Amino acid sequence: MNAPTKDAEVVDLRGQFPILQRQIHGKPLVYLDSANTAQKPQAVIDAVSEHYRLHNANVARAVHTLGEESTAAYEAVRGKIAGLINAPDAQQIVYTRGTTEAINLVARSYLRPRLREGDEILVTEMEHHANIVPWQLIAAEVGAKVVAAPVLDDGSLDLARLGEMINERTRLIGVVHVSNVLGTVNPIEQISALARGAGVPVLVDGSQAVPHLAVDVQALGCDFYCFTGHKLYGPTATGALWGRAELLAQMPPFMGGGEMIDRVSFDGTTFAAPPHRFEAGTPNITGMIGLGAAIDWLQQLGVAQLRTHEAELGAYAAAALQAVPGLRMIGSAAGKVPVFSFVIDGAHAHDLAMILDQEGIAVRSGHHCAHPLMQRFGVSATLRASLGVYNTRAEIDLLVAGLERARGMLA
Ligand code: ALA
Repeated sequence: MNAPTKDAEVVDLRGQFPILQRQIHGKPLVYLDSANTAQKPQAVIDAVSEHYRLHNANVARAVHTLGEESTAAYEAVRGKIAGLINAPDAQQIVYTRGTTEAINLVARSYLRPRLREGDEILVTEMEHHANIVPWQLIAAEVGAKVVAAPVLDDGSLDLARLGEMINERTRLIGVVHVSNVLGTVNPIEQISALARGAGVPVLVDGSQAVPHLAVDVQALGCDFYCFTGHKLYGPTATGALWGRAELLAQMPPFMGGGEMIDRVSFDGTTFAAPPHRFEAGTPNITGMIGLGAAIDWLQQLGVAQLRTHEAELGAYAAAALQAVPGLRMIGSAAGKVPVFSFVIDGAHAHDLAMILDQEGIAVRSGHHCAHPLMQRFGVSATLRASLGVYNTRAEIDLLVAGLERARGMLA
């Protein structure tokens, strides 16, 4: 089935998501919180359930049939992830519990041994806390600092300023591909080119990008790319880090334990090659198999057509929301993905979200794990509607009507 372009075509797709049949407070669920976590299609639920029913065994350590089946299914996901982001080799894909773990891994294992007093880690004002705090933790240990390139009023990155901020003290650039608050798509190719000129590696947080864009890490020119599986219609606590082979090869282990070693003795231990060097302990086997199913499902749908559907729906939502009296949109950069953060005069985001919930409409309210960005726009919280493959124009109409009613109640 191809990706939908109109409400009628979405009906078939919606049928693949059991949760969308739910009623919330007696109203059909209108799920507009996919940037927080996306709902799961039956194909993903089935893959997880089937693995537990028929193939469950630990991976990479049992020679019995179930052990081999489980290991083969689990390891096959590396190739699917490599295909999704066009990584040159599946062995450059490190399994993680998500973006947060991936960034902590790079901070601890790649950057910390190289970081010295006075060094700088350059991020942007639109980063999620996961791309700020891990850098701050290692910076504090050596007297380095985290500096942020500014965001312009429309929610786009001030690329010129970012270029000026790269200097001889810059040790790494950490940048989000797509902002979870603004929906802005950052110019990663240009950032990578600027960084390459200065010999600085670039890590890209792709959590909000992979559900919406066709990602090609080789074309992007970055050095590390990471994402989380649960925003990509896969299970929670799944994700991956891609790193250039030569960088991964230089990195020491992140955590010690089983399955990350070559040989252990009390005289000393040697470690496995990447990616297993970074994957200590029994992993989230079924989760990663579910993520593999999500990638297959998404690719069958067609990421390019999906983008068209989301662009059309996003344009419809942007126009409809702008017409709500007193609504101020935070983030209107050209080419943004359908993530809409806004405030409404005289109404707190949490109050609006609770009233909408009574109508079955799920949106997120709060700071979205992006305190610096909230400060940049002079707000403490926003309401955020974030769209996924299953959303329709009719749902946008329900959101707009719900907002107008809620605003009336709170006025
Ligand atoms: N879960 C976070 C969000 O809602 C990242 O944007």
